[in-house]
Amino acid sequence: MKITTAEFVKSAFAPEHWTTDGLPEIAFLGRSNVGKSSLLNSLLQRKGLARTSNTPGRTQSLNFFLINRKLYFVDLPGYGYAKVSKSMRGDWGKMAESYLARRDELALSIQLVDSRHPPTTLDIQLHEWLTHHDKPSLIVATKADKLSSNELKKNLENIGKVFINREVISYSSVTGRGRDEVWQAITAAIEN
Ligand code: GTP
Ligand code: MG
Repeated sequence: MKITTAEFVKSAFAPEHWTTDGLPEIAFLGRSNVGKSSLLNSLLQRKGLARTSNTPGRTQSLNFFLINRKLYFVDLPGYGYAKVSKSMRGDWGKMAESYLARRDELALSIQLVDSRHPPTTLDIQLHEWLTHHDKPSLIVATKADKLSSNELKKNLENIGKVFINREVISYSSVTGRGRDEVWQAITAAIEN
């Protein structure tokens, strides 16, 4: 898709702040620091549109970005960051789950896992939740540039053993690897 406009619209801390114009939405999900905001910027080729950081837990709200006045990207907070308080962790679950469960506009959930590591328990739980609730999803393995091609191949095989019968797209927001495949999935999802 050719990106003509990409703009930050709002940060939502509660359902009443979600957008109301009914456009389809693509959600970015995954543990803290996995590269959600970087993937979003890389897909849009807009550096710094979504804030990225070395400090895990940076994104604390649902952040809506309007693309080509036609769809939204929704950057969700990361899960599994141990240093946020217990009540914050509870809030993540509630905020994300109510969004994922209730949002009719949600056309595709892009679930990110780190290509360098086996999926975590929370990654697997999220995947099972999405599958159980018939939510269309796409698995993207991030930070592929940090591995040699042999290591990447081996790790993708192992990730594939966890998410059975699912395509896993490897991605690098540094090189843009995987960009076309992810866009294809997004385009197919919003046309449905
Ligand atoms: P939270 O908002 O805290 O949940 O994090 P996030 O998932 O949005 O991660 P973010 O995009 O902020 O990236 C975290 C760190 O990983 C940053 O330092 C990024 O520069 C780095 N990073 C993300 N994707 C890639 C990638 O594909 N390759 C490399 N080398 N670094 C990456
Ligand atoms: Mg982020």
